Amino acid sequence: MTTADDLLAPLTFPCGAVAPNRIAQAPMVVWASEPLSGHVTDADVEYFARRADVAGMIITGASFVNREGRAFLGGLGIDDATDMAGLRRLAAAIKSKGNLALVQLHHGGREAKCAYDELGYVLAPSAIDLPFLPYVPREMTEEQIASTVADFGRAAVRAVEAGFDGVEIHGANHYLLQQFFSAYSNRRTDAWGGDLERRMAFPLAVLDEVKRAVAQTGKKDFIVGYRMCPDEIHGENVGYDVTEAMVLAENVAAHGADYVHLSIFTGYDAVPAGHDASYGRLARKAVAGRCPVVIVSNVFTADDAVTALDHGDIVAIGREAHIDPDFATKLREGHADQIITTVAGGRFTELCLPDGVRTSYTTDPWRHILQPMPGIEAYL
Ligand SMILES: Cc1cc2nc3c(=O)[nH]c(=O)nc-3n(C[C@H](O)[C@H](O)[C@H](O)COP(=O)(O)O)c2cc1C
Repeated sequence: MTTADDLLAPLTFPCGAVAPNRIAQAPMVVWASEPLSGHVTDADVEYFARRADVAGMIITGASFVNREGRAFLGGLGIDDATDMAGLRRLAAAIKSKGNLALVQLHHGGREAKCAYDELGYVLAPSAIDLPFLPYVPREMTEEQIASTVADFGRAAVRAVEAGFDGVEIHGANHYLLQQFFSAYSNRRTDAWGGDLERRMAFPLAVLDEVKRAVAQTGKKDFIVGYRMCPDEIHGENVGYDVTEAMVLAENVAAHGADYVHLSIFTGYDAVPAGHDASYGRLARKAVAGRCPVVIVSNVFTADDAVTALDHGDIVAIGREAHIDPDFATKLREGHADQIITTVAGGRFTELCLPDGVRTSYTTDPWRHILQPMPGIEAYL
């Protein structure tokens, strides 16, 4: 039977890095970086310093790898070397309690609304007029594909130089990498679109390039994780099903990823339609022991986290990392019963949550896109 001790056991990644426990802070945009440059601010550092012991592995929110990928006003930038001091400060704050610090490498593709405001266009695998977007994205040229892949590699090298322990490639949540993998948003007929293998080509090219660029730095135990949605089905719009997603997971593991992180919104134990095992268990089967699987969604208590460990090797907490920054500390010190699961009671003020995070829970559009924050009613 899985117990809290299993959650607290260290985990060694394929690259050799060791996480002190099996709890991760899920990537969440902090909306506190300098709005245009994405440079690190004091609010970024304070937010992460307060959460330095929330988990054994802490992943930053989506961080843009180039200007065309910028999706969030106040999102972190790792697109150039003009803020290495800020990135170093951020990595040091996250690592200050001995836990691992990872940056999530991101390109918004068609969803890069800040890029649209700045540049007047956005890039995507195909130029499709979608009802929920106020513009039609441009289809990426061969050169743009090559330079974007290279930008992911350069961003990973900056993460190494800034002192991070790893990067997570953001291949989930309908952003650029998922747009390439999805048959709904990728209508290309060249080497980057079409059958399953061609739709995997861009995500795998990014992973290969990040691994190559990191290897060139000489850094040996640097984690390269990959986040993906385990299916993309919205009514009649089927981008890919779980069977195809598991082929991607298998390939991501075979290409040397240090973990596969499933971005799930329907519960850590959710079972896809027509299957008899949870997404996490299917992913574990797909990666076949080559790397750990990170599972997320609706983990708020110690019991949730222990149960979730039956579906993955590492349990990520998103909203709960905002609610109780001492989640892992309390588990380790035997105070699991003191873990707090709501922001009600005026707690928002004590949590070091920048305004952007607070308004994301209370104000549209994010209020209706993100999962609701427990106890938020008191602030509406
Ligand atoms: C405020 C907020 C910001 C988020 N930003 C990101 C992000 O930058 N990258 C990402 O992959 N997922 C992002 N997510 C999704 C979370 O990583 C996580 O998958 C989701 O919240 C489900 O986990 P939970 O039920 O523990 O909250 C965000 C979620 C929230 C609540």
